[in-house]
Amino acid sequence: MDRIRIRGGNELHGTIPISGAKNAALPLMIASLLTDDTLTLENVPHLADVEQLIRILGNHGADISVNGRRERQQGDSYARTIHFTSRNIVDTTAPYELVSKMRASFWVLGPLLAREGKARVSLPGGCAIGTRPVDLFIEGLSALGAEIEIDGGYINATAPAGGLVGARYVFPKVSVGATHVLMMAATLAKGTTVIGNAAREPEVVDLANCLNAMGAKITGAGSSTITIEGVTSLSGARHRVLPDRIETGTYAMAVAMAGGDVVLENTDVALLDTALEAIRRAGAEITPTNNGLRVYRNGGGIKPVDVVTDPYPGFPTDLQAQFMGLMTRSSGVSHITETIFENRFMHVQELARLGAKISLSGQTAKIEGVPRLKGAPVMATDLRASVSLVIAGLVAEGDTMVSRVYHLDRGFERLEEKLTRCGAEVERVSE
Ligand code: EPZ
Repeated sequence: MDRIRIRGGNELHGTIPISGAKNAALPLMIASLLTDDTLTLENVPHLADVEQLIRILGNHGADISVNGRRERQQGDSYARTIHFTSRNIVDTTAPYELVSKMRASFWVLGPLLAREGKARVSLPGGCAIGTRPVDLFIEGLSALGAEIEIDGGYINATAPAGGLVGARYVFPKVSVGATHVLMMAATLAKGTTVIGNAAREPEVVDLANCLNAMGAKITGAGSSTITIEGVTSLSGARHRVLPDRIETGTYAMAVAMAGGDVVLENTDVALLDTALEAIRRAGAEITPTNNGLRVYRNGGGIKPVDVVTDPYPGFPTDLQAQFMGLMTRSSGVSHITETIFENRFMHVQELARLGAKISLSGQTAKIEGVPRLKGAPVMATDLRASVSLVIAGLVAEGDTMVSRVYHLDRGFERLEEKLTRCGAEVERVSE
């Protein structure tokens, strides 16, 4: 199993191309099930989760072709263009063996139900960061008239004889995935659906833009009320996946940690205002550029900053672990409160192995900055937790060896190459 070795101590200087967003690419790929025409997605990142979803969509009958030649992007980054054609849905069951590996694959429930009138989808798996129930999906789709029962670890959903029917539904809690699914299902429902307390994440807006390009009638995405006028069918489209704001924030924090001067390109500061503000307060300078941003920290140390995770536009839970990595070296005491997932602190004990001083009280971590970290063997526990160990490893004395890097491969494209090109000593060790 691969491991990643980081030798700490180098500043970062250079340019890092930001990939297309994993968390936009996945729902966009799933939206291809809504039409018998071809959906072409550009800027799709090459990640384990994307490959897994390709297998799942293939199982439902999608014909998928990846551009043989990698498309060379501005700034020396690579991205793929992928064509998805689901002329016929050959199977409306998403089996446990496939869905258990990645929670987002559960979202096929929406398009299958809307297009075929029925779906049988295994209850999901994914990163073990909390209980992650599916009640909001069930309530939302039931509001559109679906009959839903849980049987043997599967959700069996059936639409009324004439198809799903538009309705008004207000989520009792903000959920990105349930917003994606209800929005996709409502595109083919009869009449108007109004989703209240919808997730406002940029990835929801990206999905709505793509669905509209396919002929859907969606307004309000990006606000907490989304209105969808149902249409009878959707067509194909060509859509470019938006930049990965979590990857952007992760590298910005890596530079804030290691020091140096790096341009992050093919991205957009507007996608992560709150996180960038926290990084600035920690002592890094961030300036927008034509197609991204420049991050630098020279001389001054890292200041303690308190953050609380919240749905967008709040501080993203997907950057919480990385920010904690940064705070381990601050000059004082900081607090990080996690409000989205109840079990997203598994990086705490691994950071402690590097010498971090962190104590937990309920959903809040208290981090007492230390003057030095020391390399050690550590274990990746989930996707974002694993990259927080890489960030800490960039300044730890000696070698940090991160095992279970398959977590990293789910969401960070060519991580070691991107960091190495900026002067870090990061290498993958295969055994
Ligand atoms: C998405 O997960 C992201 N995944 C997550 O990123 C991200 O952490 C999360 O949104 C929050 O921003 C993808 O986009 C593929 P939620 P999702 O439904 O949709 C509760 C990463 O590292 N909830 O918004 O699964 C849930 O338990 C991943 O890339 C219910 O109670 O998250 C959580 O407490 C990890 N009932 C809260 O809502 C439900 O039916 C928000 O979860 C559904 C969710």
